[in-house]
Amino acid sequence: MRWPKEVELKEVGPRDGLQNEPGWVNTPEKVAWINMLSNTGIKEIEYSSFVHPKWIPALKDAREVGRQINRNPDVTYSALVPNQKGLEHALEAGIDRASVFMSASETHNLKNINKSIDETLPIMKQVIQDAKAADKKVTAYVSTVFDCPFEGKTDVNQVLRVAEALFEYGADDISLGDTIGSAVPNQIEEVLDVVNQYYANKDIIMHFHDTRGMAIANIVTSMNYGMTRFDTSIGGLGGCPYAPGAAGNVATNDVLYLMDNLGIETGIDEDELLKAAFYIQNKLGKSLPSRSLTYELSQMSEGIDADVLAQKHRRKRDMMYDFLKYQYDIFKKMAQ
Ligand code: HMG
Ligand code: MG
Repeated sequence: MRWPKEVELKEVGPRDGLQNEPGWVNTPEKVAWINMLSNTGIKEIEYSSFVHPKWIPALKDAREVGRQINRNPDVTYSALVPNQKGLEHALEAGIDRASVFMSASETHNLKNINKSIDETLPIMKQVIQDAKAADKKVTAYVSTVFDCPFEGKTDVNQVLRVAEALFEYGADDISLGDTIGSAVPNQIEEVLDVVNQYYANKDIIMHFHDTRGMAIANIVTSMNYGMTRFDTSIGGLGGCPYAPGAAGNVATNDVLYLMDNLGIETGIDEDELLKAAFYIQNKLGKSLPSRSLTYELSQMSEGIDADVLAQKHRRKRDMMYDFLKYQYDIFKKMAQ
């Protein structure tokens, strides 16, 4: 197997991760967290979602978040946009890239965005064209590419039909979603065989939820098919509110471990990523599912070797210091 030299991970935790959280993370906390993510070396962050707040209350402050984050010029800031109203709000708040979305399966599309596929396509066309007219890049997500929680296995022709239309409307790239985290490598092969045949020169991103722990195997399979762009969520945070039982995206921490150890460049600094993971884990008051993150945490309390332990403790102390300083800075700003 030949591995790529580098891959690009898009951080979707602030959107795909938080959208499914029952707990409220307040705006200054979201902003501080996204600012931390901006310092990790990650090249794209999907920072929120401009959908109806009634549907996704956890992200009802998307406009404030967009206005308040510190923008690192090396990072592309994207946000989820379902329609023209969402795009209007996203442009006001500031985006480099609009992420439009629809499903390959009829029932998931209807449950997720309240419209049939035929009703959705003209909306996608308009939103993509308006985003392009505003000089923004567009990623188009296609959900339920492999399986639908309501209809079972998705016919690859449904995926092609939707992808064909989205590319024709002007999408720069398409993210193929295993929305419920059910696919296994032979399903990835079946779909990518066809996708590579039709879209050999197009930019394809893979978006794996990790419900059954298959995402890493699916990423390895995808790299074998030439894929080098993956959506990941810090700590494995998240799920899809309209796909019952689905877990979060594959954890950025786990994918980073994989890539680092395969010698594949990501540009991401593990320590900075850990800080951001601890921060949000603390705010949510629960452990995130990432195995690598859990391991790192365990190393901070029980050492294998005194030197390693001392080093880990120093790192933990530094992280605590940074974390407290972030909070202090936020409070100071708020008090002004
Ligand atoms: P709708 O109710 O059909 O919308 O919802 P409508 O066009 O009929 O409008 C109804 C009302 O909503 C109107 O207000 C609109 O102005 C308002 P009223 O006149 O009644 O006062 N409205 C909006 N308000 C704020 N922002 C907007 C907006 N649009 C309309 N953008 C809609 C349609 C798409 C808005 C709704 O179904 C919705 O918000 N759905 C969101 C679903 C969602 O966020 N799902 C999770 C994200 S997708 C995902 O996770 C999958 C992905 O990760 C890939 C994968 O894993 O496969 C991307
Ligand atoms: Mg998703």
